[in-house]
Amino acid sequence: MKATVSGTEVRTGGITLHNLQKRYGSAVAVDDVSLSVSPGEFISLLGPSGSGKTTTLMMIAGFEMPDSGQVLLDDKDITRLPPHRRELGVIFQNYALFPHMTVAENVAYPLRMRRMAKAEIETRVRRILDQVHLGALASRYPHQMSGGQQQRVAIARALVFDPPVLLLDEPLGALDKKLREHLRNEIKTLHKEVGKTMIYVTHDQDEALAMSDRVAVMHEGRIRQVSAPKDVYRWPADLFVAGFVGEVNLIPIMLKSGTVHGPAGEILPAPSWQDVDRDATLCVRPEHLHLEVSAGSSDGIQGRISGMTFVGDATIFEFRSEAGLQLLSKVLNVSAKRMPEVGDPCVASWAANDATILTE
Ligand SMILES: Nc1ncnc2c1ncn2[C@@H]1O[C@H](COP(=O)(O)OP(=O)(O)OP(=O)(O)O)[C@@H](O)[C@H]1O
Ligand SMILES: [Mg+2]
Repeated sequence: MKATVSGTEVRTGGITLHNLQKRYGSAVAVDDVSLSVSPGEFISLLGPSGSGKTTTLMMIAGFEMPDSGQVLLDDKDITRLPPHRRELGVIFQNYALFPHMTVAENVAYPLRMRRMAKAEIETRVRRILDQVHLGALASRYPHQMSGGQQQRVAIARALVFDPPVLLLDEPLGALDKKLREHLRNEIKTLHKEVGKTMIYVTHDQDEALAMSDRVAVMHEGRIRQVSAPKDVYRWPADLFVAGFVGEVNLIPIMLKSGTVHGPAGEILPAPSWQDVDRDATLCVRPEHLHLEVSAGSSDGIQGRISGMTFVGDATIFEFRSEAGLQLLSKVLNVSAKRMPEVGDPCVASWAANDATILTE
């Protein structure tokens, strides 16, 4: 939504959460969550089951009241407003269309509730149905449509009254993988077209990384990291984020002034460390870990290839160090490349800048 102030366009739809807290009995569902979402931004709340994603979204929507903290829409405190006075579009996982209403009637519903004139309702419904490519199905009933089509009706219904913010809770959760990927592209395209702020709840890391401007990773009611997708992947803030977003090798290390030592005391490639000596963990993504069969004296971990799995576009090699550490290396299946074999002795190594030191 756009407003005009003295001739300049000001985008609205910024959401700010200040120290939100929600308990159910003695269990803390959301623990001191603060987050600032810019107007027009697409942000995902990503986390495992029970991490507090839905509870956070429901407090933004107004279906749950926080025990403490505030929700702001732009500069307005909406913490205590009932849901229908917040003017936020909400889409749930079970898209709950009205079964006895046609597509057009379902989409018109929020406008009828707002007592809009009939002609205006018709124009708006037609426009939004065209936008989600459902113009031809306007007179169908929900049971006459596929799950993906029904989900698009739910999106149209949430968008039709032009809310500045759209809240989506696992909207693709009930659909199969191919359809999920298709609809996730559609939602992304729609986001670019309508320019609305979107807050998208998912436990699917691929979905979050592919769709979002920023990802907020949640665990046990707390936000552990908020960053652009590539930064969450490349620079995980802690062990939880490193393990939850993508595959990762976690290598126990000893930090000693200037050098990083592996489990058997060997020197490992890593970013420079100038702080105090201590134990830590080195994170290396499988696609960054190389297994050199005929390695000379390069830094790395000595061991053998203990297994391999063909996964289509790549091969995943399992590596076992002499000290028993298991690591994974992902190698793209490019033709004419000589692949090592199970049992081959090798050195596992990586570029120093591809590794992240976590001291948590
Ligand atoms: N109405 C409720 N009564 C009691 N406990 C609740 C209620 N709603 C949520 N919880 C608890 O709060 C925690 C967070 O739940 P929430 O639904 O926000 O998780 P989520 O991240 O959305 O998980 P999922 O991915 O499974 O949907 C969980 O431990 C859950 O059991
Ligand atoms: Mg949920």
